[in-house]
Amino acid sequence: MRPMALQERYPNLHVSRHPLVAHKLSLLRDKRTDPKQFRELVRELSWLIGYEAMADLTMQPRPIETPLEAMDGQRVEPKVGLVPVLRAGLGMVEAVLELMPSAEVWHIGLYRDERTLKPVEYYNKLPDAATVQVCLILDPMLATGGSSAATVDILKAWGAARIKQVSLIAAPEGIATLSGAHPDVDIHVAAVDRELNERGYIVPGLGDAGDRQFGTFAGPASEPGHAHDETAEVVRRLQRNLQDP
Ligand code: PRP
Ligand code: URA
Repeated sequence: MRPMALQERYPNLHVSRHPLVAHKLSLLRDKRTDPKQFRELVRELSWLIGYEAMADLTMQPRPIETPLEAMDGQRVEPKVGLVPVLRAGLGMVEAVLELMPSAEVWHIGLYRDERTLKPVEYYNKLPDAATVQVCLILDPMLATGGSSAATVDILKAWGAARIKQVSLIAAPEGIATLSGAHPDVDIHVAAVDRELNERGYIVPGLGDAGDRQFGTFAGPASEPGHAHDETAEVVRRLQRNLQDP
């Protein structure tokens, strides 16, 4: 399904149209890009997509005095929380913190079981009640959408009033999963790619975002090759759901 058709079906989906985003994303995807440059590009793209994601934050009047006269200034109203999903989301934090230095940062640890493609939670130190009104989930990849939907579940149970997903690349299957489970969550991305492959990787994508940032090319998971039957069936089911929601 093409990005335009997806945006018609899912009004919560926001795909950047900025030429700088497209330029930097192409460099990021390139397999010759080394981890140092990859991290720099993740940071630059996170700044740009984070900026777009915060465009509708509400504001409050704030009286100020310039050297010349008094005027009604403005301040961002809600308290914002950044929620990087470990580990690939870590590379996005600093850039978004630059934009919003007062934001709180709450880490969630999830990894995706490579056979079932289901998220497994391993770190969560959120306090009992929400301390922020708006949460920005930071994770470069929205693939099956399982990790993101699980993070939103956690944040809603915590009491977050408003949640936005900030990612670099999304698959149509992941957008359908997240929007189906949580239609109130805005999704901000640099690009929507063609589909998931039978291993649940986004194609054309960029490979494994965590491994490429941290130089840990541990296994062939993101490389082409025969997938486990169970994994391929999960992907086929997601693709059927997308065609017939
Ligand atoms: C990647 C990515 C997302 C998840 C996306 O993390 O950063 O968290 O996969 O996949 P999904 O949409 O199918 O759930 P990964 O599990 O590889 O962990 P890592 O960041 O620790 O490498
Ligand atoms: N996680 C990644 O890092 N890349 C993908 O394509 C899918 C999940």
